[in-house]
Amino acid sequence: MKSSTGLSSANRNLVYSWLLYAISAAGIAGTMAFMVAMTRTPGVRLLPSARAFHVILVGHVTFALTIWLLAFISTVWMYIGVQTGLPMSRKAGWVGLAISLAGAAIISIPILLFQGEDVMTDYVPLLDTPLFFVGFVTFLGGIGITAANYLVAVVRRRAGTSPGPTLSITEYGMACAAVAALTALVALAVAALRLGIGANGRVPAEYYQAMFWGMGHSFQYVSVSTMVVVWFAVVGVFLGEPKINERFAKVLFSLFALFPLATPLPYFLYDAITVPTRKAWGISLDSGLSLPVMLLGPMLIVWAWRARSTRNVAWLKSMPWSEPRVMTFAFSVALFAFGLSIHPAARQGTLQTPAHYHSVVVGGVTLAFMGLAYHLLAKVDRQLIWRKLAAIQPYFFALGIMLLVAGLLGAGTLGAPRKTYDAAVTGAAWLQPMVIMGVGAGIAALGGAAFVAIMLKSLLHRTPTPAVAAKRPALVGVGGD
Ligand code: HEM
Repeated sequence: MKSSTGLSSANRNLVYSWLLYAISAAGIAGTMAFMVAMTRTPGVRLLPSARAFHVILVGHVTFALTIWLLAFISTVWMYIGVQTGLPMSRKAGWVGLAISLAGAAIISIPILLFQGEDVMTDYVPLLDTPLFFVGFVTFLGGIGITAANYLVAVVRRRAGTSPGPTLSITEYGMACAAVAALTALVALAVAALRLGIGANGRVPAEYYQAMFWGMGHSFQYVSVSTMVVVWFAVVGVFLGEPKINERFAKVLFSLFALFPLATPLPYFLYDAITVPTRKAWGISLDSGLSLPVMLLGPMLIVWAWRARSTRNVAWLKSMPWSEPRVMTFAFSVALFAFGLSIHPAARQGTLQTPAHYHSVVVGGVTLAFMGLAYHLLAKVDRQLIWRKLAAIQPYFFALGIMLLVAGLLGAGTLGAPRKTYDAAVTGAAWLQPMVIMGVGAGIAALGGAAFVAIMLKSLLHRTPTPAVAAKRPALVGVGGD
């Protein structure tokens, strides 16, 4: 039975469950982020040892970069798939959710119990113990099923075995994200094949850096392409049908699927353990990532400009500053662009690297996802609760991330090393920027906590009966298309 949300209750429950899972992961990631940041803040030094710092940093990156992002991206595959009537398998939808949840639960055990040697690899800092890998691979298995479920549905639609309209830009964009996600899993499988299982006398940091290099690069394409899809979806909520060359936009989105196809190749061309040292590949993949964004981004501006003539949209003159879906979008674009501009510095291996990461992945991707999360509440038949807090939440989070990034960048420029326990509190040279980093982290953590609290309260709070709802004043723009 279809409700006012346009989704059947069965589909709504599936999207709801993925969303609740993703938001919970964000809460865990944010808590550990705060602990890591407060440990590197001069005068605070929250965690008592380098071991505790590294284990919590592993937990932070695992729950942030891997679980939060991929669980939310899976929510988007499910939502766009069921909302546009793609022939997705609901069974595969639940199986994917259950398996990825099981993976996340398993991976939490060594983190909570401080098991295994910590290895500070890029993309996947890890604990070198079997349970960590069983959990990690299980989690990826669930995500792989979800991406394949979406892609098969798209192929069936295009092959005409399941008739329907041509794919919209957002549907097409998420298909490209699904191709990149499955390519990431292929890159991991090829790496395992070429490297073998277990460091076996090789330096663990080099072995795991090589193992996750290809997968890590491909997953960047997954999260960035989904961020751009969310930009288009949110703009579409306020401006209606796209007023741009959709065919050209789809060609650009295809680059998000095409470029990552190169990631398994170096494992066949070189000694697999040396792949991360092949700088040309890393640089081309990173540059390839920003190309479609730098062309699709301006297309949104063209769309808004063209929309201006047809719609008496006074709001274009007076931006809806208290509309969280719009402000998360605006900050996301600005912080992603800034993050791209500091990318070159990121190659120095100092705190400039996390400065770049947090500007693009937290400022860009995560903020965009926050905006869509607010939008999905009505789609899963939930009202936004604590609306006033939701109106200021994007400002808090964005301001916090800006200060965090400025602090990390400043300290990194002065040579502060990344992922290092006490360097920040003893290196006088970068003391001030690290204080700014800490203040930023505190504000960002507040903004992040507000987002998680609003979403969990709204998701877990049963929507009031129509009679009760009728008594409540409606908030213009939030929840309804
Ligand atoms: C409240 C928000 C957040 C704060 C305050 C925060 C803070 C930090 C800090 C202080 C570090 C350690 C830097 C170092 O010692 O090298 C770190 C590392 C990292 N964080 Fe976050 N983080 C936040 C959110 C996120 C999110 C949402 C993501 C991803 C979606 C993320 C991804 C990462 C990654 C990938 C690293 C490792 C960086 C590297 O390889 O050098 N963070 N974070």
